[in-house]
Order: sequence, then structure tokens, then C-alpha cells
Amino acid sequence: MLTLPSFAKINWNLKIVGRRADGFHELCTVFQTISLHDTISFSEAEHLSLECTNPSVPTDDRNLVIRAAKLLSERFGVRRGCRIRLEKTIPAPGGLGGGSSNAAVALLGLSEVWGLSPRPEDLLELAAELGSDVPFFLLGGTALGLGRGEVLEPMPEVIEPYMLVATPPVEVSTREAFEAIGAKNLTESELQSTLVICRRDAQNLKISQSGLCNDFESSVFGKFPEVEELKWGFQESGVRAAQMSGSGASVFAVFDKEETRQATLEAFRNRNWRMFAAATLSRSEYREALGSCQRLLPISF
Ligand code: C5P
Repeated sequence: MLTLPSFAKINWNLKIVGRRADGFHELCTVFQTISLHDTISFSEAEHLSLECTNPSVPTDDRNLVIRAAKLLSERFGVRRGCRIRLEKTIPAPGGLGGGSSNAAVALLGLSEVWGLSPRPEDLLELAAELGSDVPFFLLGGTALGLGRGEVLEPMPEVIEPYMLVATPPVEVSTREAFEAIGAKNLTESELQSTLVICRRDAQNLKISQSGLCNDFESSVFGKFPEVEELKWGFQESGVRAAQMSGSGASVFAVFDKEETRQATLEAFRNRNWRMFAAATLSRSEYREALGSCQRLLPISF
């Protein structure tokens, strides 16, 4: 049996540059892996099956783990199955990339169990087919995401040991959150000039309230006021920065010291939010945690 962690991500910055001809949105985001994680175990079996500790998570074709398994076995003509067990901790949905992370780890774990040696570029292609955020989980650490989010550039590592992630009980649909922005169509010249600014901003990223942004916040806050309430709750408790992750509804907070983080955790204990203490996870920590599967990860991007 092979057991692997499947880490969550946050977005330090998330800018929606505009709508593309294919209907997707051009993004400029800075991804970050964090220590919060699910655990996935893979055991050899004749048939493919998935069980999950969270009964509200589907275990059929709607689950990206199953889609990843089918895509990989079709691509490499695999005739065996696998018994997969998903211990779910990352809230889903929550803007923390849980499903995408699970999909990337399934590609890695199944390659190992089935004795495959896909080229890193094949894995990246399969990952991008599964979802816009999936390729990032073959890189980890701090990274700039462009295009749909699948065009990646490693960035200088951000290290923040004292974070909280809180998820209120609301479900934001990513597709609807993109639609609610009403982004305008992009021209090629606008795209090129924006990318220059995006790269510069990502290089100069500052983890402070004025240094972070997420274009989804205003529309998600308008529809779900409790998410905004959560962010302001954090801001009144001595955080350095608090912001929604991805299309929400999770909000992360960065503290300067453990005492302030603990005091905030205590103060919010009786609220109806799932709360997690977390820390950033660097690229080397991320790769290390994937053990023997490291051999499958792309080295250059
Ligand atoms: O790629 P993924 O399946 O995660 O995206 C879910 C939905 O979010 C897409 O169907 C699309 O409507 C929207 N999306 C988008 N632009 C992106 C990423 C996702 O419009 N860059």
C-alpha cells in the first residue's frame, strides 16, 4: 500500500485579467502550498474503487480522483485497478484546491502502483486536462499561475509559519464566481501588457494587507456576507493580512506570532466555521513529502 499526503493551496494574489475566446478566464495568480492536507492511500486491486471518509464527497466519476485514474489508465493502456482511500480534511469546495490536489496526487500514486514512468510533460498535460489548478500540484511551493492557471513559473519562496484557514459553511461554485465577475473580452495587446505587470507584482509580493488581492472577493462577499464578516473578524484580531482564497469561501490569515494565532483560534472557537492552523509548505518540503513519487515530478517549468 502506498500512502501520500495531498496538500491544500491558497492564492496570495488572484487577478482576473479578462475573458478568453474559449470562455475560460485569463488569470494572474500566486499559488502557495500549505501544510493542511488530505491523505490518499492506494492498494493494488483488480478493479478501480474509491472510498472517502467524508460522505458528502462523491466517489464516482464526479470525483477528480476517479477521473484522473481513468485518464491515466486510458493513456497508458493499464488493465489493472486500484483500491483508493481518501481521508478528507480539506473543506470541499473551499477555494483551497482540495479536489485538484487529490487529482494530481492520484496521477502520481497510481503511476507508482501501476509501475508506470510517465514523462513529466505527459503528467502535466493530463493534469491540465483534469482542471486548471491541477498542474500546480506537480510543482508546489510558491508559484505564479498564468493562462487558465496551468501555465506555471516558480517564484521566490514565501515562508509564513503562523497561519489560520477558516471555511464558513457556504458553497461557492467556481464557474458561477467567474461569471459573476463579468470580465471583459481580452485583446492580445492588453494581455501582453498585463502579463508584464503581473510578473513584476508577483516578484515583489508582500504579505501585508495592502500587498494582497483577490478579484473574487467583492462578488463573493456580496452574495455571502458571512465570508466578508469572517475576513473582518480576522482583521480585528491582530493579523498581518487576511484574504479569501481562490473563489472561496475559505479565508486565510497570516500572523506574526504563535500567541496571536492561538488567541484568535480561541476567540473564534464557537463560530460555525471550520478552522485549521497551517503553515506555508516550500517546494522542497512538498516534494520531500511525496517520497518515491518525487521521481515523477517535473524539474523545470
Ligand atoms: O478548470 P476547472 O475545471 O477547475 O474550472 C472550473 C470552471 O471554472 C470552468 O468550467 C470555468 O467555467 C471556470 N474557469 C474559468 N477560468 C479559469 C478557470 C476556471 O472561467 N481560468
